[in-house]
Amino acid sequence: MRCTHIARLLQLTGLALSLWTSSCAAEDNNIITNTIINIKHKPLDIKTFHSLRRVSPPTISPNKRGALFITSYYTPDSNKSASYLSYLDIDSGSITRLTDDRPGTTLSNPIWFDDTSFGFLRRGALYRQNLSPDAVPDLLYDPPMPITKVAYSANKGLITFVASVYPNSTLKESAMLKRTEDNRTDSAMVFDNLWARHWNEWMSVEKPNVFSLPLKHQSETEWNLDTEINLTTVLPRCPDPLTRWSIDDYTLSPTGDNVAFVTRPPFDNMTWSTNVDIYLVSTSGNSKPRLLTAHIDGMSSSPVFSSDGRRLAWLQMETPGCESDINRIYVHNIAARETIAISYDWDLSPSSLVWSKDDKTIYTVTSTQGRNIIFSVDVATGKRKELTLVGSAWGLRPIDEQNMLFVHSTQDQPADIHLLNTYSRRTKQLTYVNKEALKDLKLCVPEDFLFNGAHGDKVHGWLLRPYDFDQRKKYPLALLIHGGPQQASIQSFSHSQWNPNMYSNAGFVTVVINFHGSPGYSKNFTDSIRHKWGDLPYVDLMRGIDFVTSKYKFVDSTRMAALGGSYGGYMVNWLNGHTDKFKCMVAHDGKFSTVSGYYGTDELWFPEWDLGKPWEIAGRTILEENNPERFASNFKTPTLFIQGEKDFRIPVSESLGAWTMLRRRSIPARFVYFPDEDHWINKMGNSMRWYTEVLDWITTWTNTTAPYHIR
Ligand SMILES: *[C@@H]1O[C@H](CO)[C@@H](O)[C@H](O)[C@H]1NC(C)=O
Ligand SMILES: *[C@@H]1O[C@H](CO)[C@@H](O)[C@H](O)[C@H]1NC(C)=O
Ligand SMILES: *[C@@H]1O[C@H](CO)[C@@H](O)[C@H](O)[C@H]1NC(C)=O
Ligand SMILES: *[C@@H]1O[C@H](CO)[C@@H](O)[C@H](O)[C@H]1NC(C)=O
Ligand SMILES: *[C@@H]1O[C@H](CO)[C@@H](O)[C@H](O)[C@H]1NC(C)=O
Ligand SMILES: *[C@@H]1O[C@H](CO)[C@@H](O)[C@H](O)[C@H]1NC(C)=O
Ligand SMILES: *[C@@H]1O[C@H](CO)[C@@H](O)[C@H](O)[C@H]1NC(C)=O
Repeated sequence: MRCTHIARLLQLTGLALSLWTSSCAAEDNNIITNTIINIKHKPLDIKTFHSLRRVSPPTISPNKRGALFITSYYTPDSNKSASYLSYLDIDSGSITRLTDDRPGTTLSNPIWFDDTSFGFLRRGALYRQNLSPDAVPDLLYDPPMPITKVAYSANKGLITFVASVYPNSTLKESAMLKRTEDNRTDSAMVFDNLWARHWNEWMSVEKPNVFSLPLKHQSETEWNLDTEINLTTVLPRCPDPLTRWSIDDYTLSPTGDNVAFVTRPPFDNMTWSTNVDIYLVSTSGNSKPRLLTAHIDGMSSSPVFSSDGRRLAWLQMETPGCESDINRIYVHNIAARETIAISYDWDLSPSSLVWSKDDKTIYTVTSTQGRNIIFSVDVATGKRKELTLVGSAWGLRPIDEQNMLFVHSTQDQPADIHLLNTYSRRTKQLTYVNKEALKDLKLCVPEDFLFNGAHGDKVHGWLLRPYDFDQRKKYPLALLIHGGPQQASIQSFSHSQWNPNMYSNAGFVTVVINFHGSPGYSKNFTDSIRHKWGDLPYVDLMRGIDFVTSKYKFVDSTRMAALGGSYGGYMVNWLNGHTDKFKCMVAHDGKFSTVSGYYGTDELWFPEWDLGKPWEIAGRTILEENNPERFASNFKTPTLFIQGEKDFRIPVSESLGAWTMLRRRSIPARFVYFPDEDHWINKMGNSMRWYTEVLDWITTWTNTTAPYHIR
């Protein structure tokens, strides 16, 4: 799940840690009605959900007075996605729009050149614009190949970026080589080594490399571009051009002297080794990249330079082969060439790092008890402190010693930019990008519950009452099963397929459970799922359902649906062979056979660590113990299978196989196939269709009338 740039799973996001009991629209409407303002809040329907705006993490200006951020949105009626850049004045909170949002003007990667001009990427090219609402952007760098992840150093007068290029070829030569491909008369691809395909792509010889490009000031406003420098050049050459060095991620130091990049050593064991390394290299390209993780074969990620550029921190997993291992915080002193681990006694796994301006503190986002919380870690002592208490934080951007901007959401609040005082821990919301849409809606606020799961361990879950809740009525239940399995349902607002509010607003009591394997409780709890995919989580889910149906009398236990994606889809298949509690199920990109699932997937380290190798007796035994397909003759629950063609993690044959088995045995089942989607649903139009199919399926089979027309 924790592969370097792609989170494995459909994360079930969006739940509020509210220890009080609250409910959805009805009660609040009553209050409002009593005060004579008769507002009937609308349900969060499929169209409204897909029209909600999203905000990017902010980019703070050099003088620290303001920040750039991107707002993006989709318009269902015209099927158009758009985005634009705004300037936020941190003191006053005033917001000025800087770019237009005509179709085709989507932009990304805002950077500052100085206090009065900024840049951004559009269609792989770099633009520059003055900080003024009337200014028009100038094309600053139109590279022969599209670039991503651009950064600028005023100090060194250079930009750094990532571009996918052919072996030993400049950007210009790569563009030519790409054109010659159009002249091919066949389409064959030939592979001798593993990693024929990854995530949603077949391997090609183009690989992301990191470059620096010196800029020469010609005049105040004009720049000359020098030739780009390949910063990985001196790494050992690789015999197979398909398994060359490829840059997963990189970061530029605040002084502009160095970049640190993340890469996998291009050996033939790339698909079963989790070794991911960090290299340090000078932006001048004059020195050999220095390998900082030579003695450790686990995954490294998220390198981040201290504010003075003298140290580099990153996240390090220490167990080779285990992608869901706990992350340790490593700090490397560049001059002394020494690396230490800090706060090593932590039983939780931080997921991102950023240094304070005085370099005494590292701030992390860490999942704990179903929330993504900001912690400060004292670099000298390793002492930790929680700076936020609820919801989900990301995109931390320290302004000075005392203040930082960050993005925050909860189940009932889509993401916005907030200001945090790191001393007082007070926060202040600065943007309200969905103000208009939210005033008509009433989102459901989750309540959390704890019960005794497998091994008698305490297991944590969330429950959302349905839209227009009435205590005296009975409601169907939707159980959403998260992926991973080493992921957790988090108290955040998700725009994905698994936003619990979407199920509650369709009339269901919605339940999610952070079963054994979920991070945020303890390392041991996360690790316990190894070899036990069908065992501990199944016990947790069954006990959780029993707990919920006996505690909450408004749940109709004869009308329940189980839904999940990825590991959640696997678990749906497992449930289908083990229980008849559910009236219907939905399995999105879920494994049917652990054996064929192993042979078809892209990252072998994952099934090898979690289960085993099918040709070895020990591995085969564990794979079969946890194999839903072995229980095929027990399946009887009507199931909707959904699958993306470009899903190379869980290939089409898994969903197709389970669907074929059910239909061959005359059990109602439906197969919804997206030829243009991968493990996720990325296109908004497809996402709308996804929710339509899923909500239609579960309302039909549980005999539920949704508060709005689903189809
Ligand atoms: C790249 O250049 C090196 C050094 O000239 C050479 O050994 C290697 O074969 C080249 N690689 C490819 C794929 O052309
Ligand atoms: C593609 O083929 C055409 C016709 O043979 C030729 O004129 C052209 O130069 C080729 N293009 C490239 C990029 O090789
Ligand atoms: C950059 O250097 C690496 C390592 O030597 C090499 O594999 C790659 O082909 C080079 N890329 C370019 C564009 O020169
Ligand atoms: C991968 O191959 C490299 C180079 O042969 C070797 O050093 C490393 O130990 C191997 N790792 C695994 C997990 O097989
Ligand atoms: C570790 O987790 C397992 C499985 O939940 C549990 O049985 C065991 O008691 C735990 N051990 C510790 C030390 O917490
Ligand atoms: C809708 O947008 C998607 C991109 O998200 C595009 O692939 C599709 O062709 C569009 N359909 C129409 C009818 O515009
Ligand atoms: C669905 O609900 C209606 C109204 O409560 C009831 O009359 C009908 O029998 C139910 N149908 C099924 C299949 O449960």
